[in-house]
Order: sequence, then C-alpha cells, then structure tokens
Amino acid sequence: MLNWDEYGKEENTTPPAAPEIKKEAVTQEVAAQQSQPPQPAENAVSTESSSSDIGEGSRAEAARIAVNNLDETAGCEELDEMMANAGRVQVDQKMMINCKADLNQLVPFKYDWAWQKYLDGSANHWMPQEINMTNDIVLWKSEDGLTEDERVIVKRNLGFFSTADSLVANNLVLALYRLITNPECRQYILRQSLEEAIHTHAYQYCIESLGMDEGEIFNMYREVPCVARKASWGLKYTQEISDPDFKTGTEETDKQLLRNLIAFYCVLEGIFFYCGFTQILSMGRRNKMTGTAEQFQYILRDESMHVNFGIDVINQIKIENPHLWDDQMKSDAAQMILEGTELEIQYARDTMPRGVLGMNASMMEEYLKFIANRRLTQLGLDEEFTGVTNPFPWMSEIIDLRKEKNFFETRVTEYQVGGALNWE
Ligand SMILES: [Fe+2]
Ligand SMILES: [Fe+2]
Repeated sequence: MLNWDEYGKEENTTPPAAPEIKKEAVTQEVAAQQSQPPQPAENAVSTESSSSDIGEGSRAEAARIAVNNLDETAGCEELDEMMANAGRVQVDQKMMINCKADLNQLVPFKYDWAWQKYLDGSANHWMPQEINMTNDIVLWKSEDGLTEDERVIVKRNLGFFSTADSLVANNLVLALYRLITNPECRQYILRQSLEEAIHTHAYQYCIESLGMDEGEIFNMYREVPCVARKASWGLKYTQEISDPDFKTGTEETDKQLLRNLIAFYCVLEGIFFYCGFTQILSMGRRNKMTGTAEQFQYILRDESMHVNFGIDVINQIKIENPHLWDDQMKSDAAQMILEGTELEIQYARDTMPRGVLGMNASMMEEYLKFIANRRLTQLGLDEEFTGVTNPFPWMSEIIDLRKEKNFFETRVTEYQVGGALNWE
C-alpha cells in the first residue's frame, strides 16, 4: 500500500551511481547510424561495455547496447508526413478523416462536443459489482418467480448483449480508432471502448450471478437465429474496414467508413439495443430482476451518449466532405437503418411470441419505427413511418430524449458528476 510516511525515505536513499556513458562513443555511434543501417547489437559490445556494475552478458548490458544502437530515425517518416505543413497544429487543420496534421496534439480543440462527451462519460463512471444482485438470484432460482416468457427474455437479451458489446468494442479499436483522424474524437473512442468493456463485464456479472449456462448464453450470437442475424449484419461492416491495409482517402473508401459509422452508431447501438433494453427495464419497473435492470439502466445511459457521439461524427464528416453525402449514400444510409429496424422487429417477435410485461411484439414494432424515424432525421433524412407514436413514454423518461439530443440539435448539459445514476 502506498504510504506517504515512506515517501521521504526513498528520496534520502542515495541511488547507485549511474554508469558513466561515453558520450563521445554515443555520438560516434549515432553518426554511424545515420550513414549505415543499424548493426547487430553484438558488434557494439566490445566498445560500449565498460562499467563494472553491469555484468558482461547481463540483461542490463543488453539494454545499454540496445539504447546505444537506438535508431533515432525510426518513426520519423510518419512524423515528417504529419508535420509537413507546420510544427504546431492549428484548429483549422483538424479534420475528422484523412487529416494530415499531427494527431498527437490534443489541443487546440476543434470539436468541443467530443471533448465534452469524454468528460461527461468519465463523470458517469460506474462498475457492475456496485449493484446488488441478491434479489435477482433469489427470483431467478425460485420455481415460480418468473414466467417462462420472462425467462426467455432475460436469457435472449443477456445472450445478445454479452457478445454485441464485444463486437462494438472490436469495431472501435480494430477499425474506427485508426481511421478517425482527430485526437479529441479518439479520446472519446478510448473512453467508449472502456465503457464497452464494462458493459461486457456487466453482462458476464449477471450471467455468473444467476448461475446461467455460460456456453449457451455466449454462443447465442452464433446459435439462435434472431440473435445471430443481428450480429452478422454488424460484423460485415467491421470486416470491410478492419484490414490493416485499408486506407481512406478515395470516395469509395471514405464511403465505406461512413457506412461503418452508420451501421454501428445508428443501427447496432441506435436500434439493435432498444427492444432488449425496453424489455429488461419493463421487468425492473414491475419489481422483477431489479439488479439486472439497474445494470441495463447504467448501460443505457452510456449508450445514449455513444449514439449521440456517433451521429455528431457522421454529421461532421458530411459537413467536411459534402461530396460523400450524395443521393446514393443517402439511399444506402436509409436502407441500412430500415434493414436494422426490420431485424429488430423480427427479434421482438421472436422474444415475445405472446404479450408479456405489459407489452407485445406489435407495440414494440411501433416503438422501433418511432426510433427508426428518429435515427433517419438525426442524419438529415426523411422519416419513413408516418403517424407512429411512442407506445412506451416511460422509456423516453428513462433515456430522456433531452439527453439524447446530439450536438447539432442542442448541447447535452444534464449529466451529473460521480457515478450516481441520476436521470433528472
Ligand atoms: Fe455498450
Ligand atoms: Fe456502446
């Protein structure tokens, strides 16, 4: 344990004398490096190893030799490219995609909303173990605590979400992080990646607490058709851009990235999560599986910020690259949102063959059409379903559509400090 009483002692301890490094030899070595390729470390042993406190053939000696042979030009090529225009980054050099400015300079900020979301997400930090699962365990293990239909809902949703958040995290770190060329957005993507890990942890924590068959739950995304269809729909968009050789910079590749953003932020996180969230939160409102429902409530709070961030990124890319948002792209975007809606409606029918928890598949269908209209308009596209209303106004209260507004509508200000779950 860290103890401040110990702090001074360490400072008073005289460190062993640093081994003297022959500066002249190092300079000569660097000069040699610049004119010829790096030599194998063994070649430098006899001239550089002299201090008595480093044993011949030791790991410390190997480290010193490696440092003396350090190729200082490694990585400079990439840096040179980024620094081609100016040493210090100016705000107007920053761009969402295909930016050539140095991405290691976080400031000056261009997209304040991205930084604000990073701060808001960090202020909402929480961990699954903070939530008491005792009542859920008792209810799940009791013979008559839940109906068979309710049990299907719990299992299907833990099955879908336990792997869906991994798919989202993989897409972020294996594909998107590299291709979004803005440091404040990358900072949020790192924050979101941590949140996705916490969500996967939360589902695992529920599955373990309830003593479920882990193999059955974690394999639903491959084995249960209505879950598998949603997963494979998303996976193909990661596959397209996660190849390390994939580069943006042409109209086609930029559009591929845009389609990935729409698939993950508007459909996976923006539609595929909504039937399951509604079902589990409805259970919690009926005082059943309240620990699981509370986990989902925390996750939903994070997810609504993920969706808003993604929509802001997409809209910013549209502003900076208007040629990408042509009729074909608009049609592709609408098609993707409507395919996602159709898959989620099928999922609702499959998980609710009968009325349950005060809802049924046709109410959920109306709700999903209401959400789809919202996703379309958030991208500046026309609504598809006329006359649909929200049959679950309590969901809007929980998510709070005021919080769901993205930067281009109004700034989110309602987030609270600390991990407390506060919807007001
Ligand atoms: Fe998540
Ligand atoms: Fe998410």
